[in-house]
Formats: sequence, structure tokens, C-alpha cells
Amino acid sequence: MICPGVLYMPGHNIGHVANGPEIVAYRASQIYPVKVFLHLTEILNKMKITIYLAASANGMISNNRNVPDWLSPEYGQGFMAICERTQAVIMGKTTYNILAPNYLPLKEGSLVVLTHDTKATPAQPNVLFTSDSPQAIVAQLSAKGHTEAVIIGGTQTVSAFIKAGLVNELILVVEPVLFGKGLPLMEGVDAEYKLALQEVKKLNENSVELRYEVRK
Ligand SMILES: NC(=O)c1ccc[n+]([C@@H]2O[C@H](COP(=O)([O-])OP(=O)(O)OC[C@H]3O[C@@H](n4cnc5c(N)ncnc54)[C@H](OP(=O)(O)O)[C@@H]3O)[C@@H](O)[C@H]2O)c1
Repeated sequence: MICPGVLYMPGHNIGHVANGPEIVAYRASQIYPVKVFLHLTEILNKMKITIYLAASANGMISNNRNVPDWLSPEYGQGFMAICERTQAVIMGKTTYNILAPNYLPLKEGSLVVLTHDTKATPAQPNVLFTSDSPQAIVAQLSAKGHTEAVIIGGTQTVSAFIKAGLVNELILVVEPVLFGKGLPLMEGVDAEYKLALQEVKKLNENSVELRYEVRK
């Protein structure tokens, strides 16, 4: 069934795509032509979505103290480099609250922040607070001319994009720590994905960067 104002593609409710160039031309009362589905699939397939995270050796991305004193400078350098390269960064509001106002990674480009509080005042003009679906966010970034975007955390945000099947690449900086408690890389995701290892980089004496392609 097709609901008013909502765009559908097989298996996906992509929500409103406010800035999508051609997509908004289709109204609720229309029967959605196959062309729309193809166009959306094309947009979603065209964007490269990378997750970039630091993790403990047992796959946690945050300790219970929630103090990032275990992150290497090399993780920080890689973080800045991928944000600069993609010019499109996606994060959750909790991660944003840690970084804003002084440590947001881009002054220009797109900083997309998932939150239900979309009326909050952003720390800088390029911050977009949104409660749109991952598919709609990707379509909006594509409409703005982006061809890739990086998700920088945290668990909820990473999980939402993995659940939506939109992630192409996972870059993990494995730091030399173990946490018994904290936040996992993802949670509440039933799907299983196979990964193809693309690169292993030793960043310093104890930290290693693993780059995986997500097989679809
Ligand atoms: N190791 C790393 O590389 C790394 C990187 C970044 C962060 N982290 C860690 O990750 C932790 C934060 O992770 P987290 O999972 O708690 O938070 P998060 O993903 O950063 O943000 C969660 C918040 O985002 C909003 N949100 C999430 N999904 C949404 C959706 N579908 N629609 C609308 N809003 C949505 C909600 O904000 P509202 O409540 O405002 O609606 C939610 O409370 C921190 O402890 C941080 O240290 C680690």
C-alpha cells in the first residue's frame, strides 16, 4: 500500500525526501511509476557510505566512563581526514553533543545530526538536525551533490544505517584496550553481513586500522 506523502521502494519506506530533485514531483495521489523506484535505487546505490569508528579489541566503541582517553592521535587524524574528504558527515545527537561547539569536524560541507529535536539551534550553519530515515538522508545528501558520506557514531546512528542496508564500507581503528562494559559498535540489528577485508594499516605500535567492504 502507498500512503500519502510517503515514498516507497520495495522493502523500504524512505519517508519524505524534501530536497530530492525529481522525487518531490510525485504526489500522494499518483500511482508511483517504476521509474521512481529505479531512480531512488540509483541514488542510494550511487552514494558511498562509510562508517569510521575507533573500537576496543572486543568491539566496543565507548567505555562505561564515557571518557575517550583511549583514542590514539592516529584515530583523530584519520577522523579529520575522512570528514574533509567526504565533506558529508552523519552523526547522532549524543555524539554531536560531545563534539559541539568546538570540535565539529567541518566548517563547510554537510553535518547531518539525527535527533527528534529538530527545532534545536545548531552550533553552526552547516549543521542539519533531522529525524528523517537513513534512506531520505542519503537521498538529500545526493541531491546536494555529495557522492560519499561518513558516519562517525554513535551506536544508535551506526545501527540505523546498517539496518537500512546503506553502508558500503566500515573502517575500524582497533585500539589496544578491552572494556567489559560500554557501547557496542551496533545493537538491535538482526541482519548479518559478510565483509571483505580491503586494507590493514598499522597506525602506531599498538593501533591498527581495518578497512572492510560490506558485501551486499
Ligand atoms: N569510538 C568511536 O569512534 C565513537 C565515535 C562517536 C561516538 N562514540 C560514542 O558513542 C556514544 C554515543 O552513541 P549513542 O548510540 O548513545 O548515540 P548517537 O548515535 O550518537 O546519538 C543517539 C541520539 O541520536 C538521535 N537518534 C538516533 N537515531 C535516531 C533516529 N532514527 N531518528 C531521530 N533521532 C535519532 C537521538 O537523539 P534525540 O534524543 O535528540 O532524539 C538519540 O538519542 C558516545 O558515548 C560516544 O563516546 C564513539
